Amino acid sequence: MSKNTLTITDNRTGKTYELPITDDTIRTADLRQIKVADDDFGMMGYDPAFLNTASCRSAITLIDGDKGILRYRGYPIEQLAEKSSYLECAYLLLHGELPTEAQLKSWVDLITTHTFVHENVKSFIQGFRYDAHPMGVFLSTIGALSTFYPEAKKVHDKQVRMLNVVRLIAKVPTIAAMSYRHSMGFPFVYPDNELSFAGNFLAMIRKMAEPRYKPNKVLERALDVLFILHADHEQNCSTSTMRAAGSSLVDPYSAVAAASAALYGPLHGGANEAVLRMLTEIGSIHNVPTFVKEVKEGKGEKKLMGFGHRVYKNYDPRAKVIKRLAEEVFEVTGRNPLLDIAIELERIALQDDYFIKRKLYPNVDFYSGLIYQAMGFPTDFFTVLFAIPRTSGWLAQWCEMLDDSEQKIARPRQVYTGSAKRDLPESRHNPFELERSR
Ligand code: CMC
Repeated sequence: MSKNTLTITDNRTGKTYELPITDDTIRTADLRQIKVADDDFGMMGYDPAFLNTASCRSAITLIDGDKGILRYRGYPIEQLAEKSSYLECAYLLLHGELPTEAQLKSWVDLITTHTFVHENVKSFIQGFRYDAHPMGVFLSTIGALSTFYPEAKKVHDKQVRMLNVVRLIAKVPTIAAMSYRHSMGFPFVYPDNELSFAGNFLAMIRKMAEPRYKPNKVLERALDVLFILHADHEQNCSTSTMRAAGSSLVDPYSAVAAASAALYGPLHGGANEAVLRMLTEIGSIHNVPTFVKEVKEGKGEKKLMGFGHRVYKNYDPRAKVIKRLAEEVFEVTGRNPLLDIAIELERIALQDDYFIKRKLYPNVDFYSGLIYQAMGFPTDFFTVLFAIPRTSGWLAQWCEMLDDSEQKIARPRQVYTGSAKRDLPESRHNPFELERSR
């Protein structure tokens, strides 16, 4: 009869151990019983970059990387992109179930009544240089919000927690738009609570002298769909950062600032910006073969940005939706000339052995930048557009972590590779005196 256990024989000692298996997983803490001597620390798992380590049990988002599947709380991303809204998805991620019509209405009302930020926020955004990267402005401002809501530290008080979750989801578009307006030298625009979440964001970006900004319906919906697609993606780099920072029981503003910093990098949310720069550098479809050759010869030095994923070894389902969405957006904005380069790049890469062998497919960032650019957003603003919806995913994962009795402060182990114990030389200079007498 088959048993749900793993038997390990330690060839150093000849001893055999039987470890329980749950959900195809062993607990690495169970390895600690494997020792050569009684006073050994015990065996650890070594897994740089967490390639094969589950850090939590989660019921929020499922990715099947081989099949190209993404689901929020069981619902396929393609269906949500077609039939849901970003705010409904945010509710779903946080609460586990779709809201009823009445619940959705009060959820939308609740978010809408928290869109304004304290007037002081204006003055410290104004303190940034005119050419400050909007992502730097965004993440610093989110972190600074913790000083406005000191009670947010009560992370185990569920009422306080939810109030701050609502505040964060509602205020990130406002702060994002302020970071944009500052970089353009435009006056800040207050939220318009008569508009949808995406429509209000567009208004805060675009409104100039007109008394009321009316968003284009196609662009408003396209942005909402992009927000749905970016809302959560299980234990990626920024979400793991959110959980790790949150595990110290810091307030959610500080944790979201940490997660935003992780998102900023070009291998994560910064990739959409990098894709646009890459397509612009390629410049013409005629240069695509040379570029692909350079990527292959660069052996990891030069990458095809917007391609590849730690989990997806198939087409990223979000990229498929975005490719279709791009056509709808271009009907309104005019076709982005870089699209042809992107399509040619995808065509050549997908039939090239280098990419086939490594299972490298377009990811969410490959086409999203083309839409953002066609909608008039500057390239350095793209990652901020990613951070707005990902905030709801980060917060859902943070709440799940706080309620998980198995979670503790995140604290990995290391394999120490430094010097063995050595003593400071008896006679030598006094370093502190040296510093003081300079
Ligand atoms: N272009 C060329 N080669 C690549 C690429 C790429 N985009 N991605 C991976 N490879 C190669 C890599 O050099 C390695 O080759 P070899 O086996 O010969 O050493 C092999 O494929 C495996 O790659 P890896 O670096 O071990 O894979 P990873 O899981 O550590 O990295 C990744 C995943 C997303 C960081 C990486 O694919 C990458 O840098 N892609 C470009 C950046 C990008 O588009 N990031 C957005 C990811 S999706 C949205 C998000 O997370 O925010």
